[in-house]
Formats: sequence, structure tokens, C-alpha cells
Amino acid sequence: MDDPELADITIRSIAVGGDGVGPDADGRIVFVAGALTGERVTGRIHSSQKRHAHADLVEVLHASPDRVVPDCRFARAGCGGCGWAHVELTAQRRAKVAMVVEAVERLGGVTIRVDSGPDLPRRGFRTTVRMPVVSGRAGFHEHRSDAVVPVDECLVAHPLIDDLLAGPRAFPGVDELVIRVGARTGDRMVVADPGAGELDLPSDVLVVGADELAKDRRAWIHERVAGVDFRISARSFFQARPDGAEALVDAVRDAVGGERPDGPLVDLYAGVGLFSATVGAGGPVVAVESSRSAVADARSNLANRSATDAKVVGVPVERWRPSPAVAVVADPPRAGLGRGGVAKVGATGATRLALVSCDAGSLGRDVGLLAADGWVPEWSRLVDMFPDTPHVEVVTSFTR
Ligand SMILES: C[S@@+](CC[C@H](N)C(=O)[O-])C[C@H]1O[C@@H](n2cnc3c(N)ncnc32)[C@H](O)[C@@H]1O
Repeated sequence: MDDPELADITIRSIAVGGDGVGPDADGRIVFVAGALTGERVTGRIHSSQKRHAHADLVEVLHASPDRVVPDCRFARAGCGGCGWAHVELTAQRRAKVAMVVEAVERLGGVTIRVDSGPDLPRRGFRTTVRMPVVSGRAGFHEHRSDAVVPVDECLVAHPLIDDLLAGPRAFPGVDELVIRVGARTGDRMVVADPGAGELDLPSDVLVVGADELAKDRRAWIHERVAGVDFRISARSFFQARPDGAEALVDAVRDAVGGERPDGPLVDLYAGVGLFSATVGAGGPVVAVESSRSAVADARSNLANRSATDAKVVGVPVERWRPSPAVAVVADPPRAGLGRGGVAKVGATGATRLALVSCDAGSLGRDVGLLAADGWVPEWSRLVDMFPDTPHVEVVTSFTR
């Protein structure tokens, strides 16, 4: 090839994170976003180390049978919101299972059974979106770019969100929006950054400025999962779809033995109390969470669960003094549990662990650390929360 930045790459597998990966003509390993297993592609190298490089996809020379034309007009126009809109759905799920199996083997040194979990709907599910706003129009970034593709509908967003984009609606004076809705309660909230100004939105929408939140204004919506109503504040984490949250609750319950553990349950990285208020209901629970707003929500959400003897500890897991438990649920951010988190889990004396991972790489590393600490991984279940993206969410069951 004449252009030294162009490379001819044969894709052998899908790496953690979703890039296609394979050798170029010189045997160097290249990661190409959007390329699929079995494809031959031309990539433009944008970063390079000694033994591997990263490239943007320029041309597909030999296409996989799993490659489809996205059914979203914005994806066809370059919207980077859904990185796998061009991959057939069953092939996406196969690739995610393979990604998890491979990561756990390579990084954790363990072979594990990975089930593909429930088939959650592919359209109209997302109850939280974060959108950059340019010249008053909300949109999504192009892949690896600051450029924004304006949208007036989003096929993956819940209709309660889509309704706020249609028109297209103008968001003057705003740089970024977070729209959150309760699919089962009908609640809607828009957080506008830097401020809400004079936004023209339907009267049911709770409109809040990021400037007001910075001055401690409290604002929340409610969502219902597994029969429990959760208060969710503007800055608190919550799963991005209630049916997916329910599937996670089912998987976590199975992982800790299928029934309410007979003794204290520790819920690490507890958020607003999703697992404490469901899996932990009817018995003693200790929920550990570092975000101030999520701690306040968890206290409110668990106060309503009269049969649950619940304590919410508002500290980072790193600073928490472990208390005895029969089972632990741990749902850490992308970096995973790491050595420190694994030590805290072990210090509870629990014999069952449900680990919820949102990154295949950190899952692999955590499985290795937990196995070295005496935990036996039994199975993993993929909960495909985000179809049309390479994002994985995995629950793994351990015993000790
Ligand atoms: C992936 S979310 C899971 C929340 C909850 N389990 C759920 O499913 O809704 C991770 C949570 O961990 C919290 N968090 C992040 N780092 C933390 C730390 N070092 N210690 C305690 N909590 C932390 C975040 O605020 C967030 O609420």
C-alpha cells in the first residue's frame, strides 16, 4: 500500500471492548473498531506501539455474513452511539459470549460456562441518555470524534425520551443534556448543562440545571424494578433499562443460591439499593456506596422495605470495615474489584459471591484474583443490556 498509514488486516477475533483484531501484512496485531471476525479490511493506523496498533476502518475488502446495513438512519449518517448497529443481532450475542469466555481464560486463567441470558428487546429500551448539544440541537458523537450528529429520534431510546427529541426540539443555551425517565412510572427529568435557562418542555418534565445541582438542589425520578419503586436522583447511577435491571436481579439471586441468603447480605457498590431492596429483602443487608446522592437514595429506598434490616454505609469500599456476611453482591465500576475489593469480599467470610461486571477485561482479571483467594467460579450469565453496542454486562457466580 502506498499510504504508510494504511494497512491490510485479516480479522481473527473480537477483542475486549469490541474491536476486530488480527494481523496486518507484516504480522503486527491491529485493532480495528467496527471490523468483524473473518473480514479482510483496510484500516488507517491512528496509534501504534511496538507490537500492536489501532486503526480506523477505511474499507471492507471481504465482508462477514454477519455484517448488515444499519436500520437506523442516524447510524448510516455516522452517529457513533451504537457501535455494532451494523452487526446482526444473534451474531452480536455470539460475539459477546465469545469475548467473555476468551477474557476469562486469557486474563483469569479459568475456563467458565457463559450463558447468553434473556433476549431483551433491541428497540425503545434506554431510560437514560447523555447527549451533547450543538447550536441548540441534541445528538450523539461520531465514533472517536468531537463531531455531533444531531438526532430527532433514537431507536434505542424509550418513547418517553424520544418524545422530547421529536420536532426536532431546540435546546438553546445548553452544551449537554441528560434525559432520564421511569419507564414504569412515567416520570421524566432533563438535566441541562450548564443551566436550564428557558427550555420549552412538556409540563410533566422535571427540568434541572447542572448549576442548580452543584448548589445542592435535589431532584429525582422513580422507576419500578421487580415490584420495588426506586427513587433515583439526578446524579445517582441506575441501570439504563428496567427490564435489564430485573434480569440482573434474577441472575444475582441465582448466583447467591436462588433464595434469600440465610444471614447477612453485603451489597458492595450498591448504588440506590437495587440488589439490597430485591435480592436482600426480608433479611439483614449492609449496602456500601460512595456517591453522596446514591447513599441518600438508598437510605430512602431501603427505609420503605420494612422487613429488611438494612444499613447503608456511605464510604468507598476501600475504606469500609468488612462485616460478616453469608453472601456478597459486588457491582463495581468498569475497573472491577481489583486486589483491594477482592480482599474486602474475602474478609466478610461469605461463602457465596455474585459479581456483576460491565467490562470483560476487568471480569477476567477479577476471576483470576478471586480464584487465587479460594473462590470457585461456577458460571457466568451475559445480560445483553445494550444490543447494537459491544458493551457487555455479566453476572458471575462464585462459591468458597
Ligand atoms: C455499576 S454501579 C452499580 C450500582 C448498583 N449496584 C445498581 O445496579 O444500580 C457502581 C456504583 O458504585 C459506586 N462506586 C464507585 N466507586 C466506588 C467505591 N470506590 N466505593 C463504593 N462505591 C463506589 C458508584 O457510585 C455506583 O453507584
